[in-house]
Amino acid sequence: MKSAKSYIDENKQRFIDELIELLKIPSISADSAYKADLILTAETVKDSLQKAGCDSVEICETPGYPIVYGEKIIDAKLPTILVYGHYDVQPPDPLDLWDSPPFEPVIKKTEIHPEGAIFARGSCDDKGQMYMHVKALEYMTSTGQLPCNVKFMIEGEEEVGSESLSWFVERNHEKLANDVILISDTGMIAPDVPSITTGLRGLSYVEVEITGPNRDLHSGLYGGAVANPINILTKMIASLHDENNHITIPGFYDKVDELSLEERAKMAEAPFSKEAYKKSIDIDDIYGEKGYTTNERNSIRPTLDVNGIWGGYIGEGAKTVIASKAYAKISMRLVPNQNWEEITDLFIKHFESIAPVGVRAKVTPHHGGQAYVTPIDSLGYKAAEKAYERTFGKTPIPQRSGGSIPIVALFEKELESKTILMGFGLDSDAIHSPNEHFGIWNYLKGIETIPQFYHYFTEMSK
Ligand code: BES
Ligand code: MN
Ligand code: MN
Repeated sequence: MKSAKSYIDENKQRFIDELIELLKIPSISADSAYKADLILTAETVKDSLQKAGCDSVEICETPGYPIVYGEKIIDAKLPTILVYGHYDVQPPDPLDLWDSPPFEPVIKKTEIHPEGAIFARGSCDDKGQMYMHVKALEYMTSTGQLPCNVKFMIEGEEEVGSESLSWFVERNHEKLANDVILISDTGMIAPDVPSITTGLRGLSYVEVEITGPNRDLHSGLYGGAVANPINILTKMIASLHDENNHITIPGFYDKVDELSLEERAKMAEAPFSKEAYKKSIDIDDIYGEKGYTTNERNSIRPTLDVNGIWGGYIGEGAKTVIASKAYAKISMRLVPNQNWEEITDLFIKHFESIAPVGVRAKVTPHHGGQAYVTPIDSLGYKAAEKAYERTFGKTPIPQRSGGSIPIVALFEKELESKTILMGFGLDSDAIHSPNEHFGIWNYLKGIETIPQFYHYFTEMSK
């Protein structure tokens, strides 16, 4: 029987070329100007699933962007793996910080990717990682080694909150019935330190607006005598953290799942270099909530961050003006037991209550989702562990991530199955940033490891 390794060796160039074609389509879900590109991407994914051996593939219409659904059912008595991924990407802005255009993929070597990496928006998040599953399926079907049933569900709105996917999942329990959900949309610690993501943070995303006078005013004639919305907004934002970097919203931490000292000690065993961390993003020191390590701050602790802030005059030169309005976009990353809707309500109440007289505060919730943690004694986790042991020669480390894939908690609620997060990206791959890239070694290693998961999951289900 042909091994995945030799199949990959023979088809390596084609695997890379096909991904490059997919990366050329600017499927930016946040910007409605790219609607036709999202549809084209969905069709391209559909064709690729058909070619990879799915029996039926369809484009499922939703109130938003379509979902690509495909399946290959070989025997109803065998287990079924549901693969989820997303074909949409983040906006590439700011464009001038890219070394090559975001939708004209190029391969370049880097220190951490000596075999080369594909530079393009979506290369790692998530087209490249999603496509590993398509190519792994191709390998299994074309060499007669698919051991179980498989369903694919690839959506186009992950980067904007997966609203249509929730709608779809709620209406298609039977179609989506499965024994385990498999996702590659996270990362791993390092090429020689494989890890399995066991947790994702939840999210509450809000926009705030502060209104002062009914029009922009001359900052000399009125300055000092009326509340300046930008001054007030920055003051209000600053007050959301105390001197220990704890969040000051009353009730914010009430339901936070605190880890035991044993669990924290276990977490601290994961390799981490503070010096390398600082160097990789060029900061002279780390920063964050008192009493927690960097790895705890960015995974098991909730946060509040301003993502954007604007108002007043930002053109060339100076303009003496007091703006009528000031705005900010704020995200809160949440941890298990915090309910995102409750947290959004707490934020709104608190933010409105700290607005001083002279201004009005308005909060508009955007989207959110619950955090997720998965046990490491499940069948799925054990199968994934064995798969990595086979292809990396090392036991993977369980690791809770700071990122969010809000739909994962919904999968558990609606479909009652566990999700296994087998990510092959690296933190340095610059997802959401300029010059996003995905290592070719990582891409091919993913294609090699995924069939092993199918194998062990089927074996262990017997
Ligand atoms: N793939 C990421 C999430 C991710 C990346 C999790 C790396 C863990 C490690 C996903 O596409 C993403 O960007 N999610 C958003 C949330 C969404 C609601 C916009 C996020 O985390 O900001
Ligand atoms: Mn993603
Ligand atoms: Mn993303």
